Amino acid sequence: MEKISITFVELKELVNNFFQDKSGITNFNEAEKVRFKYLGRKGLISSLFKKIKEKSPSERALFGKELNFIKSLIKQEIEEKLVEFEKISEKEEKIDITLPGRKFFLGSKHPINIILEEIKDAFYSMGFEVATGPEIETDYYNFEALNMPENHPSRDLQDTLYLDSGGLLRTHTSPVQIRVMEKMKPPVRIIAPGRVFRKDTPDATHSPVFYQVEGLCVDRDVSMADLKGVILSFARHLFGRSAKVRFRPSFFPFTEPSAEYDFSCILCRGKGCSVCKNTGWIEISGAGMVDPEVFKFVGYDPEVFTGFAFGMGVERIAMVKFEIDDIRLFYENDLRFIKQFS
Ligand code: DAH
Repeated sequence: MEKISITFVELKELVNNFFQDKSGITNFNEAEKVRFKYLGRKGLISSLFKKIKEKSPSERALFGKELNFIKSLIKQEIEEKLVEFEKISEKEEKIDITLPGRKFFLGSKHPINIILEEIKDAFYSMGFEVATGPEIETDYYNFEALNMPENHPSRDLQDTLYLDSGGLLRTHTSPVQIRVMEKMKPPVRIIAPGRVFRKDTPDATHSPVFYQVEGLCVDRDVSMADLKGVILSFARHLFGRSAKVRFRPSFFPFTEPSAEYDFSCILCRGKGCSVCKNTGWIEISGAGMVDPEVFKFVGYDPEVFTGFAFGMGVERIAMVKFEIDDIRLFYENDLRFIKQFS
């Protein structure tokens, strides 16, 4: 800025006062106050501008020039101060060790995952491996190769969600049996956990998406007794030594003979309660000996090999184990619910 000497006494005084004020500034707010005092709309500078007209005509031009000079000088000086304090406060913010630390929340496992892990552990210990298959399936794997020909009632449109592409959302994990047998020669020992889909309206016991675990064991001389042994071991792994299992005759197109199996109710130990609807038993799912028709689809010789298969509903087991009475809770993702299982 071009230097000029100030001739008017009141302007000299103004400059002196300003530098005095400036030297007392210790923080941003004080700098703001000084700025306001001199440069504010009703500040000292603007009141001096109003005094121009009181000057004699010969002085006016010089007074105005000097005042303008002082105005820009003060502006520059005060802005430097403001910037300086802004920078200091930024630095202070960065290293403010008094700030409380950020809270990190530890995640927790979803109850379905907890049960899935327990199921896998149980079957790993019996020599099973985990296999997976696609959630979008073809009619062939979901139905046909499982011995459900075209007009079979299980294909009812009520249950199956078909896709425009011609595929469908698998209604059970059984198609993984076919996919595994297509790729492997016996001995086969797999479980296949995964999501399945049905056209169901959600209520306390139904969800359009839920988890199943499929099981399949094929070898020479595999019998129904092996199936019962495996299921009993599994029940004990999950619910303790006193767990019991029960098989009831049933029908599935892909097993012959077929059964449904139940676990003794762990809540009332078989005495009868609201969870087991006073029967003492909890229905788990279906099982049976692999139907020779199914073997034909995958090229296994039914004269040489036999096998058993079983399914299970994971939510069912989780509901019993954790005493949960509404399946929808698993899918609402309410943290207050989910965190209880960590
Ligand atoms: N896929 C059947 C269902 O979703 C369950 C099932 C029954 C699986 C019998 C099996 C079986 O492997 O042998 O209801």
